[in-house]
Amino acid sequence: MATIALARTTHKMPLVGFGLWKVTNSSCADTVYNAIKAGYRLFDGAGDYGNEKEAGEGVRRAIKDGLVKREDLFITSKLWNTFHAKEHVKPMAKKQLGLWGLDYFDLFLVHFPISLQYVDPAERYPPEWWDATKKVVTLGSTPMHETWKEMEALVDDGLAKNIGRSNCQGSVLVDMLTYARIKPQVLQIELHPFLSQDALVKFAKTLGIAITAYSSFGPQSYFELGADGQSLFTHNVVAALAKQHNKTPAQVLLRWATQREIAVIPKSNSEARLKENFDCMSFDLKPEEIKALSDLNCNFRLNDPSEIDPRLAIFA
Ligand SMILES: NC(=O)c1ccc[n+]([C@@H]2O[C@H](COP(=O)([O-])OP(=O)(O)OC[C@H]3O[C@@H](n4cnc5c(N)ncnc54)[C@H](OP(=O)(O)O)[C@@H]3O)[C@@H](O)[C@H]2O)c1
Repeated sequence: MATIALARTTHKMPLVGFGLWKVTNSSCADTVYNAIKAGYRLFDGAGDYGNEKEAGEGVRRAIKDGLVKREDLFITSKLWNTFHAKEHVKPMAKKQLGLWGLDYFDLFLVHFPISLQYVDPAERYPPEWWDATKKVVTLGSTPMHETWKEMEALVDDGLAKNIGRSNCQGSVLVDMLTYARIKPQVLQIELHPFLSQDALVKFAKTLGIAITAYSSFGPQSYFELGADGQSLFTHNVVAALAKQHNKTPAQVLLRWATQREIAVIPKSNSEARLKENFDCMSFDLKPEEIKALSDLNCNFRLNDPSEIDPRLAIFA
């Protein structure tokens, strides 16, 4: 299996993993089990996805049935915005590990560079962006250096082998490198041909930070949430390359990233499609084909919290 060796620990992060956002609770355990059977070893979860317990059930069943051992797997999770305060980071990591039924995460990320006011999990879990009246939760007051210190403590305590960030632009990284005792090892960002993020990718590489692309299929994941936009699957450049290589558009989009050492974590609720996505490494795009896909960039971002509330404009 192709992997990226993470800086500091040299742990091997698989280049192709499975994303758990919007994986239906009722089928999540079976989906994870089937994904492991199909060869996936990395699972990308988050407290916010609300399916960590079910994902953990799938993992435990696969281990019990002898498909894999814990050490064969690379489990990622994320700290939600309402838990940035120093007294909440470790209890939340422990709660999330408990849901998964694990002793440690291979990678734990700060989900967004946004601190929101604490929501007691006994009151609402996952807390999401909104309160019970559908108003965005009040902004919190925890500076990132405090949160990051607690993330580092998770490494010291063996609860997370690696730590990283998500949804950050270059300025955030520049700032945190002035105080980080343990540098972020992974940066997980929205990345697809409509949002190629070339400068950020280049910058992270100079810092030895591995990139994981999310929403590799661009608008596809957001159509079900009401988004508009041209599908990448039917875009003529993508469709022509798929035909040329006798692959599917999904496989072409994934290879565009992995061929440049950018990890991918496609999600699918369908067993056939999750297999198709895993089988995306058996061909190479030519440099001019990679460029043709990168040239589709139009800075079209789908996952922008400023659309929820202008006070959350982290990409402005
Ligand atoms: N850090 C963050 O803030 C953040 C944000 C977003 C996502 N993520 C992570 O990244 C993962 C992937 O991103 P994503 O879920 O937004 O989107 P994605 O993987 O780019 O796309 C998923 C969508 O594509 C469909 N699909 C999957 N495989 C397909 C194929 N081979 N052919 C046709 N359609 C296909 C899925 O439908 P079916 O399920 O019906 O197949 C679903 O509608 C997430 O699951 C999550 O783990 C992280």
